[in-house]
Amino acid sequence: MSEQDKTIKDPSGKILSLVSHKLKTPLSIINGYSEAILSQAGKEKFSPFAAKALEEINKQGLKMAELVDKLLTYNKVSRMSVKELKREAVPLKALAKECASAAIAKDDDSVAVSSAEPTAKRGTYIEIDCSESLTIQADREILKAMLEEMLDNAIKFNNKMEKIIKVQGANHGDSISISVRDYGAGIRPQDVPHIFDPFYQVDDYFTGQINGWGLGLAMIKRGAELHGGTVNVVSDRGLGSIFTITLPIQ
Ligand SMILES: Nc1ncnc2c1ncn2[C@@H]1O[C@H](COP(=O)(O)OP(=O)(O)OP(=O)(O)O)[C@@H](O)[C@H]1O
Ligand SMILES: [Mg+2]
Repeated sequence: MSEQDKTIKDPSGKILSLVSHKLKTPLSIINGYSEAILSQAGKEKFSPFAAKALEEINKQGLKMAELVDKLLTYNKVSRMSVKELKREAVPLKALAKECASAAIAKDDDSVAVSSAEPTAKRGTYIEIDCSESLTIQADREILKAMLEEMLDNAIKFNNKMEKIIKVQGANHGDSISISVRDYGAGIRPQDVPHIFDPFYQVDDYFTGQINGWGLGLAMIKRGAELHGGTVNVVSDRGLGSIFTITLPIQ
């Protein structure tokens, strides 16, 4: 069989969607049962090995479920047309708070210390600088997925003990921007032109092998384009990055 014959062609995204949906059911069973056993009374009777193994099964199961969700979101957004957008007035600060809380909750390294603003856990701080009255006409679900991905990256590609992340929303008259700034790994100039390509991940000594598909930024780019906007990045290796989504006011 030639190399070409072995290629799986999936122009409509059906295979990706089918595989993702088929994986969801067994994964939710693995995660559901492992969670049920972990929260069951008497689990202290487990041997330390069994308890550790169960925790690891649960943790990895949740990571896999997250990866499957990322595939489904990418598949959906990349194939969506402008006509399919469900535009509504989205209050930006409330959305940013919601995404920040979710990002902190799934950050393994963080330990809750306070629920005061900004959303905080020891290790990761997400500051939100945005007027309460700033709203944007956008597809809420897609904008939320975009912001979640930006925060996911800001936390993931960051090995600082204390991770400071700043989310800023601003009105420029004819457009609205949302930026996420981190002080993490940063990106080498030669990698910047490729990071928005699907399945592209920078693999080097500094960031190492990290969980993910390399699809988050491709999804963000497509999401911005669907709204008639853009995404751009300013980054300094070792100092951090600022990713900015700019969407025109309709
Ligand atoms: N905030 C950031 N700081 C440093 N590097 C980043 C940042 N955001 C993205 N990158 C680099 O760009 C690459 C592509 O990012 P992208 O979000 O598309 O993929 P991923 O995070 O690796 O996987 P996924 O988003 O599918 O979980 C990353 O692998 C990483 O090398
Ligand atoms: Mg990502």
